[in-house]
Amino acid sequence: SKVVLAYSGGLDTSAIVPWLKENYDCEVVAFVADVGQGEEELAGVEEKALASGASSCFIADLKDKFVKEVIFPTLKTGAIYEGQYLLGTALARPIIAQAQVEIARKVGADALAHGCTGKGNDQVRFESCFAALAPDLQVIAPWREWNLRSRPQLLAYLAERKIPCAASATKIYSRDANLWHISTEGGELEDPWNAPSEQVWSWTAEPEQAPDEAQYLTLSFNKGEWVALNDKAIEPVDAIAQLNEIAGKHGVGRLDMVENRLVGMKSRGCYETPAGTVLYAALQGLESLVLDRATQDYRIRLGNEFAQLLYDGRWFTPLRDVMLAATTKLAEPLSGDIVVKLYKGQVTVTQKRSPNSLYSNAFATFDEDEVYNQKHAEGFIRLYSLASRIRSLQQKGEGS
Ligand code: ARG
Ligand code: SIN
Repeated sequence: SKVVLAYSGGLDTSAIVPWLKENYDCEVVAFVADVGQGEEELAGVEEKALASGASSCFIADLKDKFVKEVIFPTLKTGAIYEGQYLLGTALARPIIAQAQVEIARKVGADALAHGCTGKGNDQVRFESCFAALAPDLQVIAPWREWNLRSRPQLLAYLAERKIPCAASATKIYSRDANLWHISTEGGELEDPWNAPSEQVWSWTAEPEQAPDEAQYLTLSFNKGEWVALNDKAIEPVDAIAQLNEIAGKHGVGRLDMVENRLVGMKSRGCYETPAGTVLYAALQGLESLVLDRATQDYRIRLGNEFAQLLYDGRWFTPLRDVMLAATTKLAEPLSGDIVVKLYKGQVTVTQKRSPNSLYSNAFATFDEDEVYNQKHAEGFIRLYSLASRIRSLQQKGEGS
């Protein structure tokens, strides 16, 4: 039989290759998803896969698809998990799983395998996507089966089989990187009373060490989609990488949080999402100008629900289509320009304009105006507070 393994080139998936061959008596095809994790992680990955015993290795460049089909649509929904997390890991999973299934079909595989542990969210995300796209394929999750428990054990397992591996016996953190973010979990972070050490952060400068000079950027949006940076049309993948660079230099985009995993436990993670943080702030600035109160409130609620759906791995569901259709409609008037200021770890929106702006100086001014009759407010407040009036009168025994 044949198994397609989501392979990263790290120690875990390197050990999974021989383990699958021995325990499932199968051929292992390595599948590597390029979701923008960077040259360093991808360098020599094919050689590594073959050295581990994979029969072949496919590398799929999914960056463009990742941005156009997942990141930008999600940005439009305003999805933020538990009020803070921009979902970098969760976002990449559907795109990776889908491409993995495509390879499985191409090579005629019978099973799919991944290197997620049995304690996390990622196993649920991968397997929920597999269930929706390829219910006929068997799923193998070695971490839930084998009794290897530590890096030294994994290294020993490879050494016994004379499989070369350059991974080190000690690696402090569990990391996951893609175009949108890098996450860091484990090590000293497992105690929430430990402040993150400097080594935790890899994409962002320590705010104190960030440039003393603020930097201003103009971001333009069309129907909720980012279209230009400093008046130049963007190419999405490059633009995100560029914005990560700029915002990261100013220490923007750090998050240190304790979150609720889908499988029940709380976990502590440090996230760096520089471009995402800037884009969310800019889009929020634009929304504040364009959406009326009820619409904005609805969009926030929809954003929360969409965040949950994504976090929980429900990308390939009819519910996702429904929610995206709603947010796409809601985002239609979100066109305009936003200026953000980046300074020592903070992003602030300083200027906003939109042809669809509902902001009317004529109505809002504290100076004299001709359009708003202040007397109208009296009747409004009278009815708006009528229930309070009735309750109070009744309590005093004056109502009837
Ligand atoms: N806690 C985050 C999430 O659930 C990050 C998970 C990181 N995954 C990983 N395989 N290192 O989305
Ligand atoms: C893992 O357990 O494989 C990583 C963490 C997570 O999935 O939440």
